[in-house]
Amino acid sequence: MKIAMVGSGYVGLVSGACFADFGHDVVCIDKDQSKIDRLHDNIMPIYEPGLAGLVESNVKADRLTFSTDLAEAIQGASAIFIAVGTPSRRGDGHADLSFVHAVAREIGENLSNDAVIVTKSTVPVGTGDEVERILQESGTQHRFAVVSNPEFLREGAAIGDFKRPDRIVIGTEDDFGREVMTRVYRPLFINESPILFVSRRSAELIKYAANAFLATKITFINEMADICEKVGANVQDVSRGIGTDNRIGPKFLHAGPGYGGSCFPKDTLALLKTAEDYDSPTRLVEAVVQVNESRKRAMGRKVVDALGGASEARGKTVAMLGLTFKPNTDDMRDSPAIAVAQTLIDAGVKVRAYDPEGMEAAAPLMPEVEMAEGTYEAIDGADAVVIVTEWDVFRALDIKRIKSLLTAPVVVDLRNIYKPDEMRELGIEYTSVGRA
Ligand code: UDX
Repeated sequence: MKIAMVGSGYVGLVSGACFADFGHDVVCIDKDQSKIDRLHDNIMPIYEPGLAGLVESNVKADRLTFSTDLAEAIQGASAIFIAVGTPSRRGDGHADLSFVHAVAREIGENLSNDAVIVTKSTVPVGTGDEVERILQESGTQHRFAVVSNPEFLREGAAIGDFKRPDRIVIGTEDDFGREVMTRVYRPLFINESPILFVSRRSAELIKYAANAFLATKITFINEMADICEKVGANVQDVSRGIGTDNRIGPKFLHAGPGYGGSCFPKDTLALLKTAEDYDSPTRLVEAVVQVNESRKRAMGRKVVDALGGASEARGKTVAMLGLTFKPNTDDMRDSPAIAVAQTLIDAGVKVRAYDPEGMEAAAPLMPEVEMAEGTYEAIDGADAVVIVTEWDVFRALDIKRIKSLLTAPVVVDLRNIYKPDEMRELGIEYTSVGRA
């Protein structure tokens, strides 16, 4: 079966490579010529574990190709996925659908066979109707169905998530759409991943509801962490204590500096806009967005406190370990590190940072932060360390060495990757999140 994937960014490329690995004939399309050129040379536009190898083997097997020519590439494809970006529109927080609409128009104008058009981009409820209208207006004579098929991939674990998903959501009430999508996902039936066939609007909303719920879960435990600090409790014990309740579940209960990334901040805002448009307020999600926003700065102030307060902190240097919004990605989008660093800089603190993959993307976003060659280079001569992202390489640091490199043994661990007792025994003035 031939599949065309329009948009070779994070979602499109991972999905395209995985579909090819399942034996489909896949072409990934992008209008960015240099991106396609680099993909031909097996250079990935993003850092994602396992992706380069997966792309290479499927290109060699002739199942995966790349193209900038949408009109030609979609010829003969039974399923055409739209996986282009839907950034937050400047000013109003609405998802910007101009790329999705433009692609739909181009597909309609160039369709040469019956096909299912699948929106994989995260799009507000009702976008499928709009895509369908655009295709109808294009005057195509071929049979088509517009289906919603949201993705639930986590960056850094995307290939595993694609191949062994908790569920596959397919939004269509059209028989042709259902039949083609069943063929597209047939290889995953063997893994017994449940496939949920729902209406197109339900599928569109499921994606936002899932992300808003997860963002709520994180924000909830973050506020519990604040209470833990005040009352002398331990948030990790609280997480375990509530997470073992099957109705709650143990995941997404790690307290930290607040959620970031390419999805949660953007999708929660877009959901609020939909809620506003349909006059159906979601006050809970509103609160989540506000609490998470203020939390990032509060984490910067935590570091200032660890340095001895505002007047002591001024002129000092902090070594920041980790910049990306989470490990195993080079993605800096809405990373809490940006707000933490800015709070420190505003307080007159110098920031010297190291991140295994994120420094290139981080540099333009944080021009006042000095980038170091490595972990210990960042720490050498600094007055404190703050761990912002829980990369594995930061989990077994040489604490004695760190102590000897710092002017004072101050460590702020915003991801709770060390044990307070052990750190204190090693003579570290250790602060973490929600562990009094
Ligand atoms: C998320 C969703 O998980 C995925 O299903 C969706 O398709 C896209 O958005 P992603 O943004 O890649 O994926 O990252 P995820 O691992 O979910 O983490 C998001 C943010 O929440 C990170 O900043 C992470 O550090 C934070 N987080 C996560 C916590 O602070 N605590 C947790 O317990 C879990």
